[in-house]
Amino acid sequence: MHKRQIKEKVSWMGALDWDRRLFDSLIPLPDGTSYNAYLVEGSEKTALLDTVDPVMADTLLAQLAGVDKIDFVVSHHAEQDHSGAIPRVLERFPEARLVVTPKAKGMLIDHLGVSENRFMTVEDGATLSLGDKTLRFIHTPWVHWPETMVTYLEEDLILFSCDFYGSHIAATDLFVTDPGRVYEAAKRYFAEIMMPFRKVIEKNMEKLKGIDIQMIAPSHGQIYDRPAWIMDAYRDWVIGDPHNLVVLPFVSMHGSTLQMVDHLSSALVAQGVRVERFNLAVTDIGKLAMAMVDAGTVVVGVPTVLAGPHPLAAYATFLANALRPKAKFLSIVGSYGWGGKTVEILAGMIPNLKVEVLEPVLCKGVPLKTDFEALDRLAAVIGQKHKDSGFK
Ligand code: FEO
Repeated sequence: MHKRQIKEKVSWMGALDWDRRLFDSLIPLPDGTSYNAYLVEGSEKTALLDTVDPVMADTLLAQLAGVDKIDFVVSHHAEQDHSGAIPRVLERFPEARLVVTPKAKGMLIDHLGVSENRFMTVEDGATLSLGDKTLRFIHTPWVHWPETMVTYLEEDLILFSCDFYGSHIAATDLFVTDPGRVYEAAKRYFAEIMMPFRKVIEKNMEKLKGIDIQMIAPSHGQIYDRPAWIMDAYRDWVIGDPHNLVVLPFVSMHGSTLQMVDHLSSALVAQGVRVERFNLAVTDIGKLAMAMVDAGTVVVGVPTVLAGPHPLAAYATFLANALRPKAKFLSIVGSYGWGGKTVEILAGMIPNLKVEVLEPVLCKGVPLKTDFEALDRLAAVIGQKHKDSGFK
């Protein structure tokens, strides 16, 4: 893909990674991704904003073949998918300064071995003139690493946001053409890496409030030429109330836990509560993370194996604890053969969650009438808690 103009003297560069299916050996990428870099050519100076994943460095270097001089390389984020090609770009443009937050400087030295004398650190709110174009740097920590910042191009009203507002999609359309598709991908990305940092992200969003942003150019996925909706979506994900929704990750070995999950799902629906279920044996973990953004309650369906929770349920519980969703209530349902410490072990795995734990329902072997009645009571409690909490 060649460089593509998005505004006068502002161009998209970068690479589409159509076939990548996993990020960090953890996060599913069903639609691939892109690593977006941007070239801003002022009347006096030229800046490159971000680079690409190191495996795609040749693509970026080929796009830069016709560029005589780069004065500044702005690195918004030290993670390799944006910074990995920086050493090669600095080698190709020996006069370029690397513009970063003070925190990013140390990280880029640690991760990429960049020489100390290439750096130019910028404070929050600092500006850099390229002649007829001005870059303003806004520190936005914890989106999703501690060093992250964004750049506002004052004359063109463009926010270069890096991971913030980004989505993992590989597409030839430069701008968003299908907001529904991008909404889902952006929510998935928020859920997987930003949800734990909601408090700081809220402050970052406050900082951006007074700025006239006509376009958001992230470093993954498509560019928002009408960015209001994605900023509204982030507000809902970050500060909106949990929804009247139970997220039910489960695993079943011989069908007993599945019977309980089926019964509880129906009982919750009868209580007017929405349910999203995820069979952990087959689910896309990103879908589960996405549902967690809205969950009012999480119920883990778990059989006991080897005297403790099934490892897939333990994995989902560990992940939920790490992602710190807004959910206010949590419970456990499941079946065991003869004993075990499933509830104690899972309860000990969620120290980060500020949840009220509702009475678990565990049954021995296949569930009986009394177990189904206990599930009905759990559904009624959840329904009432959601009503009392005003979840919509
Ligand atoms: Fe797209 Fe946090 O890197």
